Amino acid sequence: MNKSGHPDSLGPITQGVPKRLRRSKDTSTSKATMRGKPAPSKEFAFHLKPVDIARHLNRFVIGQQEAKKVLSVALCDHFQHVKMTQAGNPAPFYQKQNVLILGPTGVGKTHLIRSAADLIGVPFVKADATKFSETGYVGGDVDDLVRDLIRRAGGDIKRAEHGIIYLDEVDKLACGASESGGRDVSGRGVQTNLLKLMEDGDVPVVSPNDVTGQLQNAMSAARGNTPGMPDTVSTKHILFIVSGAFVGIEKITRERLENKSLAMEKCHAQVSTADLIRFGLEPEFVGRLPVRVACHSLDEDDLFHVLSKSESSLLRQYERAFAAYGIKLQFQPEALRTLAGLAKAEQTGARGLMTVLERSFRDLKFRLPSTKIKSLTVTAETIQNPAATLRRLLSKVAPKKLPDIQ
Ligand SMILES: Nc1ncnc2c1ncn2[C@@H]1O[C@H](COP(=O)(O)OP(=O)(O)OP(=O)(O)O)[C@@H](O)[C@H]1O
Ligand SMILES: [Mg+2]
Repeated sequence: MNKSGHPDSLGPITQGVPKRLRRSKDTSTSKATMRGKPAPSKEFAFHLKPVDIARHLNRFVIGQQEAKKVLSVALCDHFQHVKMTQAGNPAPFYQKQNVLILGPTGVGKTHLIRSAADLIGVPFVKADATKFSETGYVGGDVDDLVRDLIRRAGGDIKRAEHGIIYLDEVDKLACGASESGGRDVSGRGVQTNLLKLMEDGDVPVVSPNDVTGQLQNAMSAARGNTPGMPDTVSTKHILFIVSGAFVGIEKITRERLENKSLAMEKCHAQVSTADLIRFGLEPEFVGRLPVRVACHSLDEDDLFHVLSKSESSLLRQYERAFAAYGIKLQFQPEALRTLAGLAKAEQTGARGLMTVLERSFRDLKFRLPSTKIKSLTVTAETIQNPAATLRRLLSKVAPKKLPDIQ
């Protein structure tokens, strides 16, 4: 659950973001407000160019230049389209440029969108595709995504109609190919339900499953309280960004290209519509995702930079955790190199950094807060052999001050 109180919306990352780049806070509203008098639609203020967005993303996300480029252009195009539509000049025959981001686990697919969320001046919702079911009885109904947009838009239907929906883990909707790890026929049902949203559908403002909502709506309408309030939201202008790891798709691409030794990186960059369909996605679903980009895996250097350069570096989290007990943590560059090397071996992208850090700091985090130690310089030894570092540190403080628990 993030600050906004919504489990699936992405919280703002405003640390260090210049004021002009921060998005104005969306005021979440209750269903009652949604059904109340529609607020006049606010102007969309967006003056950024693709390079501005990419520059902002550079501060948080290491590498993934192609994905940054694609995302920046897609977001800017969307805003220009929204502006023209709002000004009463909708582009004739405009086709949405929904985006598919694929790539190995832990390389920044979700992180990219989370970092871009700050700049998104239109309502924005994020959800995992895995939480939906075909009927909506178990899990959710994909139409709820659109209703979430209305909430994020403060009940302003016009704003919601120009929002962005980010759907993560779409590869889990794949069906048929068991080796792809796809789920089953219900994944296909969810894909089918998404089709109408991704093109030009109408979604009821109040869910048919929301009995109370339906009743309140009917009573409100009977009292004549909702003049001009539309019952449905059009999804014609809502932009969709989806992502997934698509584990195993490289085998399909290699087979198609008749090149058994093609590196995973190159396979991802050459994934075709046919590959995605063979993986288990429906042709109509794939067809509605015309913009595709692959994220590359992170090498040791990238992982080093994730620690040392990214403003979202995990090191800040560790520094804060120790600072809470008055202990100053300082990382030496060779400690970061060692961390990056060990994380690379985990083969889980930047997620490996957390695994290694947790392993290295577990005992230190447990013991040091109960001692008089006020600073810790993290060296390569601390990462490789934290037990030795702990022994050395503890030997310097009076034994009676040591916690007796092991
Ligand atoms: N390129 C990167 N630059 C900076 N940090 C990164 C990068 N990639 C990953 N991270 C860090 O690792 C964490 C996990 O990355 P993320 O959630 O983006 O993975 P993913 O590519 O979406 O993987 P999955 O397919 O498993 O969902 C992020 O929260 C971020 O802290
Ligand atoms: Mg992800």
